[in-house]
Amino acid sequence: MRDLYKVHPPPGTILPGPSPFSSLGSAISASLGLLSQPYIVYRSCLRPRAGASGRAAGRPESTLVKHGYTNSTFGDGTLVIKCYQGPEAAFRLSTESRYLRRLRGRLPVPRVHQVTETSLTTRFVSGAHGQDLLDEGRAIEVLTECGRLLARIHRLGIVHGDYGPQNLLFDPATFEATAILDWEWAHPGRPIEDLAWCEWIVRSHHPEHVPLLPHFFTAYGDLVPEWPERQAAMVERCHSLIDFCARWEPGGGGEKLWRQRLETTAAWTE
Ligand SMILES: Nc1ncnc2c1ncn2[C@@H]1O[C@H](COP(=O)(O)OP(=O)(O)O)[C@@H](O)[C@H]1O
Ligand SMILES: [Mg+2]
Repeated sequence: MRDLYKVHPPPGTILPGPSPFSSLGSAISASLGLLSQPYIVYRSCLRPRAGASGRAAGRPESTLVKHGYTNSTFGDGTLVIKCYQGPEAAFRLSTESRYLRRLRGRLPVPRVHQVTETSLTTRFVSGAHGQDLLDEGRAIEVLTECGRLLARIHRLGIVHGDYGPQNLLFDPATFEATAILDWEWAHPGRPIEDLAWCEWIVRSHHPEHVPLLPHFFTAYGDLVPEWPERQAAMVERCHSLIDFCARWEPGGGGEKLWRQRLETTAAWTE
């Protein structure tokens, strides 16, 4: 499990997080996650915590989840608050809440609990994080499920926009997805956008599993564009993220990071 930070804010409090472009953030963030504030996961009901006494008794136990890597020890009734920052934050919030509502019952997505002007609260879904499973020797299962699910998303005419193991939770026994998260970049679009981005995540953050990418493409089943087209889509995405970061903080750390990533991506050979 990744780092967890215990905090005790009243539910709904927006916490000041570490700089989204800190070196720690860049190192552990998979892709677009580094652009967001950390999360607050809290219990919706004020049950006394086991072993708590005095002032701590009855206080909601809240956990700030840095880059969302969280821990499945929370019980029922736990909620996750996502706060949006940066350019077009309100637009991304409305996109995510709209897609979550629209996809409920059609794909495994968390239930929307509450929407405010700056945040979206969803029901906590338990499951093992895709990137943890990749690190734990379950790459074939994860990549196969990634491909299978992506075909289902695309059959609805939807592009997820930040698709990959970094945004999927899995049943640790069956490796079926329990949740597809992070719909803030969803839009009607071309399937290659998601195919290339999931591949980019694996190539950038899990290079040891690149030889297993055929499991992803085979499970997807439909026509997969050739490498030059996929690489061009990755390069295009890096460019749009450079633009996004430049709108947020011109010349800042995010822009530099994505320029480096663009250079690396453009230099890859199949
Ligand atoms: N409803 C949820 N249930 C369980 N975990 C969640 C939920 N929503 C988010 N998370 C955790 O928080 C992380 C970040 O959430 P995500 O929506 O992907 O935001 P970001 O834009 O920061 O990547 C996820 O990878 C997951 O670990
Ligand atoms: Mg994410």
